[in-house]
Amino acid sequence: MRVEGRESKIAGRLLAHYDVHARRLPWRAAPGANGADPYRVWLSEVMLQQTTVAAVGPYFDKFTARWPTVETLAAAQDADLMAAWAGLGYYARARNLLACARAVARDHGGVFPDSEDGLRALPGVGAYTAAAVAAIAFGRRAVVVDANVERVVARLFAIATPLPAARPAIRVATDAITPDARAGDFAQAMMDLGATICTPRNPACGICPLREDCDAFATADPAAFPVKAAKKARPHRIGHAWWIERGDGHVWLVRRPDRGLLGGMRALPSSEWSDAPDPTPPFPARWAVLVEPVAHVFTHFSLALHVATTHVGVDHKPTGPGEWWPIDRIGEAGLPTLFARAADAVVKESARDARN
Ligand code: ADE
Repeated sequence: MRVEGRESKIAGRLLAHYDVHARRLPWRAAPGANGADPYRVWLSEVMLQQTTVAAVGPYFDKFTARWPTVETLAAAQDADLMAAWAGLGYYARARNLLACARAVARDHGGVFPDSEDGLRALPGVGAYTAAAVAAIAFGRRAVVVDANVERVVARLFAIATPLPAARPAIRVATDAITPDARAGDFAQAMMDLGATICTPRNPACGICPLREDCDAFATADPAAFPVKAAKKARPHRIGHAWWIERGDGHVWLVRRPDRGLLGGMRALPSSEWSDAPDPTPPFPARWAVLVEPVAHVFTHFSLALHVATTHVGVDHKPTGPGEWWPIDRIGEAGLPTLFARAADAVVKESARDARN
């Protein structure tokens, strides 16, 4: 849908601002350039779905140095990719990333489809990513709505319906202000505006290029948009993890099942995470429990992970699959953040015990 008038002026003003103020980001083409490398755009978009631009930067550099093209990424070992992804969280995305790279390499000769529909058909590519890559890499007119855009548009039109019910209206309004030309720059300009000026709290309306266009600016409290529905409390869960340390400085690591949270990642052996998980260790021994459980917040629940440690002889064989990992190289195991923090807590506590 295109509406002439106010809506069409918004894009012009925003793009003029972007021409001067666009953030320089490693996956971006300069404002006005026609498109950017689809592989880099796709990779950055997948990474940015769960983390801030600042946090993604080093991961993006590491990935593109090691896997500079979609074909090189498609040829990566699953375990290497999962280890490189550790810390970005949400490992299903890493598995989808690899599946998508392999589909592009195998079914498309290493060339990304250049339309929203073609991109949407790739494994793990949802409506947002397809629209973002079509617009940013290929200059297609696509309606790109992420959390920043959602906020900017909810304010521009002072949409009073709370999120998430407001999403269809936000989409229609974003469509109305998306220009035919430079849709990729427009999408990124909206994201930059949301990240740097139209921020969730204390928006900098004084320097906003869209102040005159903004219905929320005309109210007493622009930051009240988007209106939020009352929050459900995040459930709390408890888990137990076991640090089995061998006399020669190795710790026993397992690989988590492919499906589910932190799927396919190396980890300490651990219980289910629930209200009252079974605290029975994997075998009878003298177990010492760390005083402070490791507190970690996942998207859908928070977790207190109780870590118990024991020492075993060099001929000890735990049951089930796993591997002995050198403790002085634990940083190279690609442990997800939760277990990296658990390992850190154990190592710090043993250093403290050694001093006392
Ligand atoms: N967030 C998601 N994609 C982005 C992009 N291309 N530029 C800035 N922020 C983003």
